[in-house]
Amino acid sequence: MITLGIDIGGSGIKGALVDTEKGEMVTDRLRIPTPQPAKPQAVIGVLKEIVDHFEYSGPIGVGIPAIVIKGVTHSAANIDDDWIGYASQQAMAEATGCPVVLGNDADVAGLAEMRFGAGQGQLGTVMIFTLGTGIGSAVFVNGRFLPNTELGHLYLRNMKRDAEDYAAERIRDEKNLSWKQWGKRLNTYFQHIEFLFSPELIIIGGGISKKHDEFLPYIKTRATIVPAELRNEAGIVGAAVLAAESS
Ligand code: BGC
Repeated sequence: MITLGIDIGGSGIKGALVDTEKGEMVTDRLRIPTPQPAKPQAVIGVLKEIVDHFEYSGPIGVGIPAIVIKGVTHSAANIDDDWIGYASQQAMAEATGCPVVLGNDADVAGLAEMRFGAGQGQLGTVMIFTLGTGIGSAVFVNGRFLPNTELGHLYLRNMKRDAEDYAAERIRDEKNLSWKQWGKRLNTYFQHIEFLFSPELIIIGGGISKKHDEFLPYIKTRATIVPAELRNEAGIVGAAVLAAESS
């Protein structure tokens, strides 16, 4: 099924048509900067632009950096607080005239990696992390999925701040950290994750995962740790798969 997938990020909103059986984008990706402030009406206006650009009608899958329960967003770490408690899925459907399935951005990226990428056929506990503006997480146990984990918001000992404010890709960029400095921060974070969850496999996604050679060598875990195979496309592909499967 060809389905529109949209990934709402802290800096860009990206969409493409996806072949959901193959897990592949079948058009170029359209990227529109995220409106600032990223309030619901402004962001939903961009979704409408993306739908119009592809002259699309049909189910739409959308990933958003928030906790999503039954179409309602319940947190807003890198978007405007107006999303908290907002019936986002319904508002998106009304604005676009298409049925919308909304999920957490890291959850849908994780779904794509499990189905088509580095997690294919992997049993045991598999954890997918997206490193970007924040740190997103998705957890699968024997292929079954635990939604809405927010492991970027763990507190690390003595840090007095969320882990994502210490180790996200945004922090590497803002603080101009060397790969080694950032790698050490990631090592602290993933060793703590490993202590808490003992996963068999950790998959690292987000745009920066294409530079995995620079930072993965600093992360020493018992678990196998690998870059995502769908890289930055996982969010779009996973969102489309979620919508295709729910319709
Ligand atoms: C948000 C998550 C999101 C992650 C990656 C975090 O700040 O709380 O919901 O998955 O960023 O975008």
